[in-house]
Amino acid sequence: MQKSFFAAWLTLNRACNLRCKWCYARETGFEKKDEMPLPLAKGIIDLCAQGGIPSIILIGGEPTVYPHVLDVIRYATERGIRTTLVTNGLLLADKERLKSYIEAGLSKVSLSLKAHSAEAYRALTEVDAFDTALQAIALLAEMGVKFSVSTVLTGENIPEFIEGLKKAKEKGASSFGLSFCYNVCMGEGANEHLEKNNPYRLAEAFEACYPTLKAALGNAHFSLEQGLPQCVWREGFIEELQRDRHVHSICQLMSGTGLLFDTEGYLIPCNALYTMRYGKFGEDFSDFEGLLAHRQTPDVTNLFRLLQGVPDEACLSCAKAATCGGGRVTNWTNYSFEELQKMNPRKERIPHA
Ligand SMILES: C[S@@+](CC[C@H](N)C(=O)[O-])C[C@H]1O[C@@H](n2cnc3c(N)ncnc32)[C@H](O)[C@@H]1O
Repeated sequence: MQKSFFAAWLTLNRACNLRCKWCYARETGFEKKDEMPLPLAKGIIDLCAQGGIPSIILIGGEPTVYPHVLDVIRYATERGIRTTLVTNGLLLADKERLKSYIEAGLSKVSLSLKAHSAEAYRALTEVDAFDTALQAIALLAEMGVKFSVSTVLTGENIPEFIEGLKKAKEKGASSFGLSFCYNVCMGEGANEHLEKNNPYRLAEAFEACYPTLKAALGNAHFSLEQGLPQCVWREGFIEELQRDRHVHSICQLMSGTGLLFDTEGYLIPCNALYTMRYGKFGEDFSDFEGLLAHRQTPDVTNLFRLLQGVPDEACLSCAKAATCGGGRVTNWTNYSFEELQKMNPRKERIPHA
């Protein structure tokens, strides 16, 4: 029996005004022509309204460069659906433009701050726009828009990312989301990503800077989306984060409660796994009942069983399996459970309680 969906993601476009080196969507080529036709976006919103889905997340590419973004927000708002814009925020650093989003009914902005300084921003994104991103944050705060600031953590920006969050806080941000950089490696062997992002090293580096992070953010809300397998962390640290309410674990794919559409109306299981299309609006289903039936077909249930499965038999007897699930499924395109253990600098056996 399908649980209800808490949100639907609409990939409005693939065009983007940044070129982030680690972007999971780099291979789309950021094609300008690759965007969701407005009638398709409206059709998907109608489907969501039919199914009582309360919230739509607008993503890209960069959704603020999508020409119909305000129409989409207005259309969803008129149907009682909340909209969240996932954006680098650069185009929101303009009062009149931001006003038009507010007037269209936008509920929330999730602004991703790509780096902690002007130099690091340029080096990562190929665009000189750190100050513009901070201006957008200041404007969102000034105009009373509900928003959070997200940052991607890598082996290269821990602990410097804290400086970026401090600057965002000074501009008025009071809610922050952190997540580790993920990578989909469908090719052969180890890759550059892993050399820089050994999960044990990431966990160690995050734990080391956690007291500084807490001090820097003070009363602001922040939460780490814990996408690593929990066994890479020192025993007890995740529990500390849980007690502090600074961690959340299971993603929409693991819980099966998200519905993601690409620019052509295909369902995809995860934004990063956008090549794994598993059904198309208008072909495989055209209303909500049809969508539920499609999700129950053997091919689709098998795909989800595979993606939601744990990476190793050892995980089945782990006490943490329910809140871990082996971590983000994309991890396992980079290494096997055995290879992961070889990366352990502490060398002790992974504790499976
Ligand atoms: C592809 S972007 C699209 C929306 C918008 N252009 C933005 O920058 O927020 C979606 C979100 O995923 C994050 N992201 C992109 N590649 C990532 C990766 N490899 N690992 C973790 N997060 C990533 C981005 O920072 C952003 O928050």
